[in-house]
Parts: sequence; C-alpha cells; structure tokens
Amino acid sequence: MTDNSAKYVAAIDQGTTSSRCIVFNQDGAIVAVDQREHRQIFPKPGWVEHDATEIWSKTQAVVAGAIAKAGLRADQLSAMGITNQRETTLLWDRSTGKPVHNAIVWQDTRTAALCNQLGGQDGQDRFREQTGLPLATYFSGPKAAWLLDNVPDLRARAERGEIAFGTMDSWLIWNLTGGTDGGQHVTDVTNAGRTMLMNLETLQWDPSILSAMNIPEAMLPEIRSSSEVYGTAVGQLAGVPVASALGDQQAAVFGQACYDVGTAKNTYGTGSFLLLNTGDRPVPSKSGLLTTMGYKIGTEAPVYCLEGAIAITGALVQWFRDQLGIIRTADEIEPLAASVEDNGGSYIVPAFSGLFAPYWRSDARGVITGLTRYVTKAHLARAVLEATSWQTREVVDAMYQDSGVHITTLKVDGGMTKNNLLMQHQSDVLDVPVVRPKVSETTCLGAAYAAGLATGVWNDTDELKAHWQKDVEWTPNMEASVRDREYHNWRKAVEKSFGWEE
Ligand code: G3P
Repeated sequence: MTDNSAKYVAAIDQGTTSSRCIVFNQDGAIVAVDQREHRQIFPKPGWVEHDATEIWSKTQAVVAGAIAKAGLRADQLSAMGITNQRETTLLWDRSTGKPVHNAIVWQDTRTAALCNQLGGQDGQDRFREQTGLPLATYFSGPKAAWLLDNVPDLRARAERGEIAFGTMDSWLIWNLTGGTDGGQHVTDVTNAGRTMLMNLETLQWDPSILSAMNIPEAMLPEIRSSSEVYGTAVGQLAGVPVASALGDQQAAVFGQACYDVGTAKNTYGTGSFLLLNTGDRPVPSKSGLLTTMGYKIGTEAPVYCLEGAIAITGALVQWFRDQLGIIRTADEIEPLAASVEDNGGSYIVPAFSGLFAPYWRSDARGVITGLTRYVTKAHLARAVLEATSWQTREVVDAMYQDSGVHITTLKVDGGMTKNNLLMQHQSDVLDVPVVRPKVSETTCLGAAYAAGLATGVWNDTDELKAHWQKDVEWTPNMEASVRDREYHNWRKAVEKSFGWEE
C-alpha cells in the first residue's frame, strides 16, 4: 500500500538496450520498476542504430507500468527525472515530431573517416582543450554532421530551423512536455558535454567547434543545469514537473553519493564507465581519460569528473549469448565460468567499437588469444568476464596517473554486479575492496534525486548521502605474482587488437 501523505519521485532511464522507469519513495528506496528492451539495429559492420519512435513508445509504456505497479496515480508524483544513454544522436522534424533517420548509437563507428579528417594536423586532440574529449567516433557532434551530410535536403532544413538535434534526454523531455505542441527543447550540461560541441568552461555551445563541424546552431537545444524544472508534463503524466536530466553515468555518480572530491564509482552496463569526482574545476587528462561534467544542481557551481569509458563489457556477454549461442541467458555465464579454475590461458579483447579508454583506437577490432585445444567454452566464459575487470584495471591505473588519486574502495553498480565471480575478480585485479550499495539502481536513483532536489522533496546532498547503505563487499584474494602475470598477458592481447583495416 502506498501512503497518501508520502512523496514519490519517478525517473526514466533510457538506456542502450532498454528503457525503464522506477518510482522511489522519500527514503530513496524503490517502490516499483518497469522495463522494456528495444531493437538493436546493425545495418553494416560497426553501425548501430535505434528507432527513436520505438524508444518513445516503450518509454511511455514503462512509465505507465511503474506507476501502476506502485499503486499510484500520476498526480501523486512530485517530479519526474530523466537519465539516458549518452551521445546517441537524433535529429527530428520540429513540425511533425518525426525522426528524420534512426538514432545513431554511441557505439557506432561510421564517423571514423570524418573524425580523422576533422583532426587534421592536430589529430585527436583538436578539440580536447575546449571539450575535454578526444576526437573519436563515440561523440555526438560528428554523428550529427554525418546525418546532415547524408540525409537528402537535411542541411538546408536544419539551417532554416526546421530540424531539432538531441540526445535521448532532449527527445524525451520534448515529447513529455508537449512535443509539436510546445515541447521544451533543452538538454543538460552532462549530456551537452558529450556532444563535443559544448565548451567545458562556458557551459555553452562553442562557436568555433560548430563552425569546424559545420553544425547549424538553430538545431541545438538550450543547455540547462541537471536539476531544475524544464517544464510540466502533458499526457499520462499531466501536471508532473520534469525536473532533472543527467547522462546515465553522471546520474550514477549522483545516485552513488559521490559528492566529495576523490570519490568514484564504476557502472557495469553495456559498457563500463568509471567516474571520479574532481570538484569544481575540469582536470585535463594525459592518460586517455575524458574530462567531463559530473553534474550541475540548479545555480550551484558545476562539478567535474575524470571518466574512463569502456565501450564493451556487458555487451560481450550478450554477444557470447546471441551471436555465439554458447549460453541461453546472461545468467548462465557465471556457473559456466565457475565450472573451471581459470581462463585456461585465453583472453578476449572486445574491441567491437574500436577501443575506448585509455587507448582511443578506432583501428582496434576484437581478438581472442591464447587458444589451445585445452580451451573449452567454460574457459572462454571466464575470459569474457575477465575482459571487464582488466579493462577496468587499465582505467583505474590511468586515473591514478592523471589525478594522483588512489581509489581505495570501488563503489560499483549496474547489472553485472550481481555476478559474484566477476566482482571477486574485479577486487582481485585492482587489489582493493569492491562495494555495492543496497539500491544498485543508482542511475535512476541519481536522476530521481536531482529531480527531487529541484522540487523540494529533498533539501541537499547531505540528506541524500545519508541514504547510501552498503549491501555487499568483495575483498581482494589473489597472489600478486598471479595478478602481474595475468595483467601482462591481457596487455599482450590488447596489442594484438590494433591495426585492423576497414
Ligand atoms: O556513454 C554511453 C553510456 O551512457 C551508455 O550507458 O548503460 O546504456 O550502456 P548504458
């Protein structure tokens, strides 16, 4: 039963593989969840698209589902927050509300040649000072440029102001607040920061980058803070303030209560993303990390992070299941991997979208190394899981090089953290404890927190911090000599993934 005097906040997490909606109570505990997957569209090797119309209808369905499961009416929600897969790029027609093309997903590598060309003599670092990002296929700006160049007549329409650009936060907020009938065209600093078009100091679109990428400013949303009322919902959520937007990884930072400088979290989803709070100044990276926004609460000063972005972790388990058919469900990987002592000498480097941090190599492709006739599917299952922990180890090493911060405990969340074998291996290879909180849905929680702060459900981050509670802790249990040998072998495997031609 729900309490009529209690306050509830809901959040939508529009992720890479699914959309979900979670209703939270004032203690930050989950009241109800609903989730639906959407289609992954692979038109060519390296290309990944989503149907944004399907995403919008599934989002509406999960919102209705979560509210019904919570036993609430929509008007009992104090606020709705939004969090989303970042960088995925959509252009739609402002007058019809229809996408002009499928959304180009963050993992898509079709802009490799364009990124090379944009880099010119400065290479990957051309826009790093303004944006904190290397020129890579990952980010939205070049994806938008590709659409403008490849969809007939689109550039002229965009220049006339007929087309809207957005990441998934913008698309959902525009639709939630009325769409063609007065929808708000906004984004927040965390999402705008991943387009490669926003200046990290001014928190505005950078005119020099817009001109270099030939992006008409008329199609861009207004950049706002991560926690403020952008507008009031219409339709099934009529009257509910839409009051937060954060990229999913930044939302997890907020939900994991990483409010102090030096605190970090790692989220294990399709990919894995380790973010370290570096305070109110951007810290440049020399070790292959991204300098990125953490969050900005209303008119408060922005908080910045260093981020280690790994493109493929959970998606490797999906590939093992769907493309190879070795397991039938993702959960089967743990018992299969646990049926053998070790990886049998095999290593899998899942460079399916090139390699992101700390390498940023678009010429990398996936490899399996160390094969002998001894290796079984169980050893490969271990290698699949270990690929996640080794990629995380490389990012943690880079974090230390850039910031001097030793991560002494790693806060974790996301779907893969229910895999004990993986979390133990993660603790072993980092040689630090790994801790998962009671509410492991930190992405939605962070968006709900930011929406609740904007609407008076909670007062400040101290109040939110008090909600954080430890659930499980894994402690390191691997001999240093084994760790060193395995890390050496992993890095040899990574080198073999470089240098593949299209
Ligand atoms: O940058 C991409 C990231 O935001 C995607 O996260 O959890 O949807 O894989 P996820």
